[in-house]
This record gives sequence, structure tokens and C-alpha cells, in this order.
Amino acid sequence: MADLPLRLGILASGRGSNFAAILDAIDAGRCPAEVAILVSDRPDAQALERAAAHAIPTAVVVPTDYPDREKYDLQVVERLRAAKVQLVALAGYMRIVTPAFLAAFPDRVINIHPALLPAFPGLHAQRQALEYGVKVSGCTVHFVDEGVDSGPIILQQAVEVCDDDTEESLSARILVEEHKLYPEAIRRIARGEVPLGGRPRRQEVA
Ligand code: GRF
Repeated sequence: MADLPLRLGILASGRGSNFAAILDAIDAGRCPAEVAILVSDRPDAQALERAAAHAIPTAVVVPTDYPDREKYDLQVVERLRAAKVQLVALAGYMRIVTPAFLAAFPDRVINIHPALLPAFPGLHAQRQALEYGVKVSGCTVHFVDEGVDSGPIILQQAVEVCDDDTEESLSARILVEEHKLYPEAIRRIARGEVPLGGRPRRQEVA
């Protein structure tokens, strides 16, 4: 992408530790981006406090104020456009974005998921991994499409699953890697190193 620093819009519903990791990477010069706005669907999201501490503009858009998901999303789009956002990063955003949202930012919406997709999409990915008994899990940054955690993969990092892991211990180890992976993915997108929205072409297998 041209015009660095890349203007980011972050969407978060809760704790906001990935948002904080992105801010840290920007401050440390590891990510040529700036957060233009943080949007939350929850007035009590801790991410809002983190934004305030960094003097980053915020918007709270409450779903119950809108008649349907699309009208809600279009309001969020309006806020992002007003902030001249070039890339939207979902960071613990607990809503599935509508096709109308994706159409407003084609190939410009990314997400982080705490598993090695396509394994364990959806909620409680770390619990799903433990219940299945995998020996390796991890995290994935991917483009968002109309499915749930199903868009083209940008980066992944593996994390070993230990025999005595609990959902909490595994989540904590994966989170450490998320905090490195998400800023790195944004860095690569900002520098034009990631084909936007594209899946790699499938190879013919003999
Ligand atoms: C992270 O585990 C992320 O992968 C998932 O939701 C969690 C959000 O954590 N999508 P935080 O709000 O960034 O601390």
C-alpha cells in the first residue's frame, strides 16, 4: 500500500491487548502505520481506555441502536471513512461483519484468530484445540470474507500444546504470539508485501 503510514481502523469489543500490541509496534517503529480510530460495539470495552491513554479517537456504536446488522455496519463504515481509514483490523471484535461492510473496504479487512486456521474457527478456539487433542495450535492473521474465520491466510505462528495445558495457559501462550504476529502482518501489508485479499493459486498435483 502506498502513502505510509497506513491509516488503520481498529474494531474491538473487549480487552484490547492486540490493539495495545499494534500501538506498541507503531511506537517502536516496527510498523509503518497509525491508528486513525478505534471503534467498539461495547461502551465498557477496555480497549477504549487504552485508546484514550494514547489520545486515539474512539467511537462507540451500540448495536441495539440500529434496526439490523447492515444498518449497524454502515454506521461503523461511516465512522471509519470519516477517519480516512485504509485498512480495518478486527482485534477481539465479537461481531461478524456483513457483506455491506466488506463491500465498503474490499480486501481491506483483516482479523486475528487464536488457532491455526482452517482448524478451530469460531468461538473458544483454544478450548476446541485442547478438546480435539492437537499437539500444535497457534494463531492466524487472515483477510475477512463473508464466512467465519474463513478468509485468505496472511500469516500463521505455531504454538506447542503441552500435556498439562489448560484453556488459560494455552490461551496465554498463544496470545504472546498474537501480539507479535498481528503487527508483523500489518507491517507487511503497509509495505505492499502481501497480495491484497488474494489466495495463492492452487498448484496442480500430479
Ligand atoms: C484474541 O485471542 C484474538 O485472537 C481473538 O480475540 C482475542 C482478543 O483479545 N479474536 P484482545 O481483546 O486483543 O486482548
